[in-house]
Order: sequence, then structure tokens, then C-alpha cells
Amino acid sequence: MADGIIHTEGLTKVYPGADFKAVDGLDLRVRRGEIFGLLGPNGAGKTTTAGMLTTRVIPTSGTALVGGIDVVAHPALAKQLIGVVSQQNTLDRQLTCWENLYFHGRLFGIGAKESRRAATDLLEQFQLGKWADKSVYALSGGMAQRLMVARSILHRPAVLFMDEPTAGLDPQSRLALWELLGELNRAGQTILLTTHYMEEADQLCHRVAIMDRGRMLALDTPAALKATVGADTIVTVRTVGEPAGLAAHFEREVEGTTRVRPVDGGVELHIARADGVVPRVVAAAERGGFHLADLSVSEPTLETVFINLTGKELRD
Ligand SMILES: Nc1ncnc2c1ncn2[C@@H]1O[C@H](COP(=O)(O)OP(=O)(O)O)[C@@H](O)[C@H]1O
Ligand SMILES: [Mg+2]
Repeated sequence: MADGIIHTEGLTKVYPGADFKAVDGLDLRVRRGEIFGLLGPNGAGKTTTAGMLTTRVIPTSGTALVGGIDVVAHPALAKQLIGVVSQQNTLDRQLTCWENLYFHGRLFGIGAKESRRAATDLLEQFQLGKWADKSVYALSGGMAQRLMVARSILHRPAVLFMDEPTAGLDPQSRLALWELLGELNRAGQTILLTTHYMEEADQLCHRVAIMDRGRMLALDTPAALKATVGADTIVTVRTVGEPAGLAAHFEREVEGTTRVRPVDGGVELHIARADGVVPRVVAAAERGGFHLADLSVSEPTLETVFINLTGKELRD
């Protein structure tokens, strides 16, 4: 499928009564075998996009194909091709862990024998074998999520959708989930995830679409997106006292500066020619009579990219 496993054209959603587009003319192509990230702040339209692709939200206009199937015209067919892990715990509390998997298989038209085998195998693969006969009440949050991931792939979906998979997880569980998704992907699973964590998009995703206010602002690999910043070093300078005049001073005095952005108590400099950057910034501060309280050096992140695209920060 040269067009990719997900293909949208002009995909748009206006919720009833709303006077704005929650998703605005999205043209997206997700390739088979990649981990694709939709990155954006709260309200960007990520969940609405995932909702339309998984048949939960009806588009206002535009088209969306998953595995070549039009999700609006053929939702039942499309559902066979997708796996969904939602943010809420959607496990059946009346059933054991094993039964949650088994009945999912049956629901997707898989025979009893094959469903039994898949349920047992997946519990082992996801290190939940010991919990097979336990109630899902017995599971920790991280384990419940693992079971939901196992369930979501039991019918071998062409694409696995995860909406903000690590929101609210502690750092250790977050790393464990990244590891798990990486493994599934290396075994061939195409994954589309939404996130507002730039580190997650950067570390986990092969390609990232940056969204804000329903629109896609950029789409590329994390490395290529960061290269668009046009600077290889970000220096944050904080000064003693009033930073007025600081931005203009550094913009003038530090060679290679591509952008200066005010931050709390100082400025952030984007610098393209990074050799000897610290002495150059310190010398520039001295020439201007500014007293440095703090100086830190980092590389551009997807946060920097987002700021360059929108003028605002990704995290709130
Ligand atoms: N069911 C709904 N009804 C009305 N407005 C909604 C609904 N769901 C989301 N929205 C609005 O659509 C916009 C996009 O929301 P959403 O897709 O949830 O963004 P994200 O997942 O990126 O935070 C927001 O302004 C949100 O308030
Ligand atoms: Mg959301």
C-alpha cells in the first residue's frame, strides 16, 4: 500500500454547537511499520483525530482510510484493522484477566481454540501469566494497562492506536511502556500514539506530526524537525536584576544568534555557531554590564520546534 496504512485528506471535525474546527483539514499519511506520534498541547485535536480514525468520532468532512478501508463508509470493517488502548481502564471487571483476552478474540470473530491459545500466549508475553485466573481488580495500574495493550493486539490489528499512553504514569512505568511499545513495533506492529510529552515523541516515534488548534503545523522525523530550528545550541541566561535590554544586547553581541526569547528572569538564545559558545556569551554579558546569575546550555528539543512554530510553549 504505497499510500500508507493511514491516509487522511482534509479530515475535519466541528463538534455540534462549536464555532471552531477541533480538527482542521488534516492530511496525514502513516507508513506501515512506524511508530507515528501526534504531538500537541491540550486541545490541539489529538484525541479527536484518533477518535475519527478509530470510528468513535464521525468526521464533519474529509476522508480517512485505514488499511485502505474508508472508516466512515465501513466502520465495522475498519474496526477489524485497528487496536485501541484508551486512557480509561476499559477492562471487564466481571471477567478474569485471561477471559478479558479470550472474549475479545471471540468478539472479533476468532475461533474458540485460536482465542484460547492467543489469550494464554499473550498473557505470557506480557508477563501476566500468573494473573490469568485473577480478577482484573487485582492488577496495578501499570499491569492493567499492559493487559489492555495485550487485548488490543490479540486480533492482530494493522494499526495500534494509543491516546496519551503515558499520561499520569510514574517515570518507571512510562519507561516500561516505551520499552513494550518498542518491542511490539520491532515485531512489525504499526503504532499511532498521541502525546503532549515532547520527550515521548522524540524518543519513541519515527515520525511526528506537530498539532495545534486542530491544524498540523509540521510533520517529519524528530531529528529533521529539530534541524528546522536552524540552531544547534540553546543557551539560557539568567541575570541578576532587571533583564530589560538583555535580549537586544545578546542578539547584537553574540555571533550566530538566530533567535532570542524572553524567559523567566532572563533570555533564551538560539545559536547556530556553537563553538566556544559559553565564553562568547559570558564575554557579551560582561561587555553589557550584565551580571549572570545562571547559564545553561542545551540542544534544541521538539519544545523548541513548537515554540518556533507557535510562539508559545507546549507544556502549560
Ligand atoms: N465531545 C466534544 N464536544 C465538544 N467539543 C469537544 C469534544 N471533544 C473535544 N472537544 C473540543 O475539541 C478541541 C480538541 O479537543 P481534543 O481532540 O480532545 O484535543 P487533545 O486531545 O489534543 O487535547 C478542544 O477545543 C476540545 O474542547
Ligand atoms: Mg486528548
